Amino acid sequence: MSQDTKTLLDWANRYLVQNYARAPLCLVRGEGVRVWDTDGKEYLDFVGGIAVDALGHCHPKIVGAIREQATTLLHVSNLYQIPSQIHLAKLLVDHSFADRAFFCNSGAEANEAAIKLARKHAKETHASDRVDIITMRGAFHGRTMGALSATPTEKYQHGFEPLLPGFKYVPFGDLRAAERAIDNRTAAILVEPIQGEGGVHVAPDGYLAGLRRLCDQSGALLMFDEVQTGMGRTGRLWAHQHWDVEPDVMTLAKALASGIPIGAVLAKEHCARALAAGTHGTTFGGNPFATTVGVATMTTMLEDKLPEQADRVGGYLIDRLRQTARQAPAIKTVRGKGLLIGIDLDRPGGPVVSACRDRGLLVLTAGDTVLRLTPPLVVEEADVDRAVTIIGEVLSRSAT
Ligand SMILES: Cc1ncc(COP(=O)(O)O)c(C=O)c1O
Repeated sequence: MSQDTKTLLDWANRYLVQNYARAPLCLVRGEGVRVWDTDGKEYLDFVGGIAVDALGHCHPKIVGAIREQATTLLHVSNLYQIPSQIHLAKLLVDHSFADRAFFCNSGAEANEAAIKLARKHAKETHASDRVDIITMRGAFHGRTMGALSATPTEKYQHGFEPLLPGFKYVPFGDLRAAERAIDNRTAAILVEPIQGEGGVHVAPDGYLAGLRRLCDQSGALLMFDEVQTGMGRTGRLWAHQHWDVEPDVMTLAKALASGIPIGAVLAKEHCARALAAGTHGTTFGGNPFATTVGVATMTTMLEDKLPEQADRVGGYLIDRLRQTARQAPAIKTVRGKGLLIGIDLDRPGGPVVSACRDRGLLVLTAGDTVLRLTPPLVVEEADVDRAVTIIGEVLSRSAT
């Protein structure tokens, strides 16, 4: 397993399905907000596994939990009660609007479960033809067929038709459009409080409260996809807390177990009961390993007040980027909350990502022209200064 970089890149080309447009580097080690590649080059990691590595790489509490659980019990089955799964459910319920939790393995799977829960709930509570889910243009809910059907973007859906019936798409942030779309066939509205993949678009003030009102009037469920925005990312434990609006259902994944695959659906009692015994399940979901790491992640996040740190350092990062924008006309706007930040450029973001990488900074895009920053929540002001300097240099160079 210690081939040189060139051999690894050749083998990647030869043996892997080519479904990812990957950068030509192999990362092999990480510590805090830094990672190293096979050539020993160091990078400041402002991608953080796309909002997964909230505690930074190899956090001692996570390493300890993994070591201990690896020698205790990895997997049994949901045929039995799993203490760490129960603990993680209690932690999530104690710190959210929800009454119950269901565990799976990814964000897409969490959204699949939420879609199934919404349909079952609507059929049982209202009418058998009440099946529609309203989702937003620019949304991203995952790549499985149900989640993909909820993701109305041509580049994701093209070639995979027929999609699942029963999805209605409306523009994000347009309450009137949602009002026109909702009817007595609507089972749920599914929405990200901040669209991540779609370009870091923040819900306008009053929007989520308006959707809550529409759902209350019609009996549809309000479901927030917080796969990317949850777990402290935006400066609150849950992004919807910025607007003081509670959903009936919330989906989570990404940072929930620091990189060990996990997903979760949190739900209020009145709809959680739709998923009665035997209606839904998954082999690995909530297994002892993933949920032990989830408990370690969640307790560390709360003890170390990482949402507060994301709020403070994210505010500093946004300020520094806005200062940089005054000297870099390539930056049109800087938006986001906490440490989910989008820099809207007047040009494609791909070459900017490559130029930052050459200078030792990892960043990513969200759409074609938005540079996205999702560093670990443990990032500090000195790292921010270095990242902003590199971004400023790259953009001033490419402007000339
Ligand atoms: C908001 C949102 N929902 C769902 C997903 C899908 O998650 P996964 O890739 O774990 O299936 C993502 C992934 O980026 C996401 O950002």
